[in-house]
Amino acid sequence: MLLLAIETSCDETAAAVVADGREIRSSVVSSQIAVHAEYGGVVPEIASRKHLEMISPVIAQALKEAGVELSAIQGIAVTRGPGLSGALLVGLSVAKAMASARNIPFVGVHHIEGHLLAAFLERAVEFPFLALVVSGGHTHLYHVEGIGRYRTLGRTIDDAAGEAFDKSAKIMGLEYPGGARIDALAREGDATAVRLPRPMMNDGSLNFSFSGLKTAMLQHIGKHPVTFPSQQANDLCASFQAAVCDVLAFKAEAALRQTGAQRLVVAGGVACNSGLRARMGELASRLGVELHIPGPALCGDNAAMLAVPGDFYLENGMASPRTMDAVATWDMDRVGEGCR
Ligand code: KG4
Ligand code: ZN
Repeated sequence: MLLLAIETSCDETAAAVVADGREIRSSVVSSQIAVHAEYGGVVPEIASRKHLEMISPVIAQALKEAGVELSAIQGIAVTRGPGLSGALLVGLSVAKAMASARNIPFVGVHHIEGHLLAAFLERAVEFPFLALVVSGGHTHLYHVEGIGRYRTLGRTIDDAAGEAFDKSAKIMGLEYPGGARIDALAREGDATAVRLPRPMMNDGSLNFSFSGLKTAMLQHIGKHPVTFPSQQANDLCASFQAAVCDVLAFKAEAALRQTGAQRLVVAGGVACNSGLRARMGELASRLGVELHIPGPALCGDNAAMLAVPGDFYLENGMASPRTMDAVATWDMDRVGEGCR
């Protein structure tokens, strides 16, 4: 099946053309980061307006790059949630309108479902597997038994990993979103230079907490103000990144041992982090587990990732009803309920 996929859940307007849920024919991502940077975070109202402005040109570009006419598209996969309601509605309304006009099916997909299946666009992963999804809004461990069959093993009880990166970067005076900047500076730093906490590491659960780490950063900077560029800033970035990676690796290992899973998928924007990629590589080889981390373009928000579950649902007759609404929150354990 040749699918058009549409993503507008946060601050990226994205569209892709994907064949059989595996082969990317085109993937266009228009980022609003520069627009939101001056406010230090995503402004929902501005995000919706930007999506409205960009959605048609982005879809047109995706079709052009794939070299196909709209008439060749056989179905549409779109993010239904979770995300910013106004932003989601733009993509969902366009998907519904195009599906109606062309008389083709569409399916509303969970954004995180897209992230954790993005690896399939590079190579197929055998089920079951453990998935660690680390993004701006999520830090979750899932046991994945098949497409649509996800069991949450653990989650953050406060900030997500990406949020921790971005907030700590802001505290240091780096521009939003600071995750990638911390990653770059950390490469030149000493990860043992500043002692920072590893919240909830030894509590026996598979949950995470990052707000204490942010507070520790605030206190440290209060006593030792940072300037850029400096070795001190690089060391602080490296120490912070090591603290986040330690916790993520420790909990992923505990979940692998608990479930006996032989495969680990790491996904979401924070999976672009070079320190985390290296740490997960070490963990997987030490435990003899197969590791899948998609390339950076498939870790961050994109539309192609939605076509993996989208193709599966449409091929299995699980199209969404035209009355389907966008949802700001949506439990992954109940992903099939009320929409198909
Ligand atoms: O998955 P994503 O693109 O959007 C959401 O669904 O949230 O994730 C965005 C998050 C941001 O917090 C961003 O700072 C973080 O991913 N991020 C990184 C890196 N690249 C992006 N965090 C750490 N290191 C990176 N290299
Ligand atoms: Zn995302």
